[in-house]
Amino acid sequence: MGTYYDNSIVPDHLKRKFDVYDRIKKLSIDMGSFDADVADLKGAGIAGIVFHESGLVFLSGQGGGPGQMYDDPARIKEGADAAEEIADSMIKRLHWGLTCGGEGGDLNDVISLVTALGLVGEIAGAAGVDIHFLDVGGGFPAAYKGVVTPPLSAYMDEIDAGLAGLELRRDCVTMCEPGRAMVASGCSLVVQVLLRKEDQIYINDGVHGSLSEMVTGPLRMPVRLIRLDGDPSDRYADFAVAGPTCDSVDMLPFPFRLPEDIREGDWLEIGQLGAYGSALRTQFNGFYPDTFVTLRDEPFIDSPSRARSSGA
Ligand SMILES: Cc1ncc(COP(=O)(O)O)c(C=O)c1O
Repeated sequence: MGTYYDNSIVPDHLKRKFDVYDRIKKLSIDMGSFDADVADLKGAGIAGIVFHESGLVFLSGQGGGPGQMYDDPARIKEGADAAEEIADSMIKRLHWGLTCGGEGGDLNDVISLVTALGLVGEIAGAAGVDIHFLDVGGGFPAAYKGVVTPPLSAYMDEIDAGLAGLELRRDCVTMCEPGRAMVASGCSLVVQVLLRKEDQIYINDGVHGSLSEMVTGPLRMPVRLIRLDGDPSDRYADFAVAGPTCDSVDMLPFPFRLPEDIREGDWLEIGQLGAYGSALRTQFNGFYPDTFVTLRDEPFIDSPSRARSSGA
């Protein structure tokens, strides 16, 4: 589909199956022209475009549009129009930013992601105030199964580029609030297999306990079997996983790939739990996972390039 996208690190099953320009045509988005949109980028409202070797493209810049969302129908329509105008103009800028080098890439090569640090500058300018502390928040990535995790440096590059596009006071303090990225690999959940019925296992924690992010994310954490007496089979099979609460919702949305001879009494390490596993657990039906042990151990997955080998 895209010159680089086809050979990118995105796994085949996650690749987009449509041509981005067909979508743009269907949505009747006016992409402007080379002369109007590329010849002079001055005043185009672009704070920064960073093309990272992972294939990630960050675009920041100021938005636009006539007005804010509000609760009467006319203002809601106005707000929706404004959001559409911002989205359309971001797509147009990204298209010209990608194609003007003439190296063959285009919007079909973009994996993700558009950010809008430039909006901060626009708001500060409109409000006529200097920013003393700028907090870019959290949302930095951690590695899970089935997703492409860009390196943290790609996010830092984007933040630097976005900040360079703002007119900040020299003493402005920039802060961020990383959560998941810092601690996801710092906490594993260890559960025990209570029962096996053919290709289904029952474990002593579940979606009402530490594993709700498997549903809400939906995040796929890595899993490995720990058997204390003997070696498990080296042949693997998929197992549906049920929690302990007897509630029909207490089923994990993905099967675990585990040694085919998994049995009652085996233990599983579920990695990348971070802090949200324990913070989001409930006491539903009386089950409340609450035992914490501190270990000096290598993380289950440190970064995508240092993933420990596992059957999961
Ligand atoms: C105010 C605030 N900042 C930062 C974070 C961390 O977010 P993340 O784990 O996505 O980096 C959270 C998470 O709940 C939050 O509530």
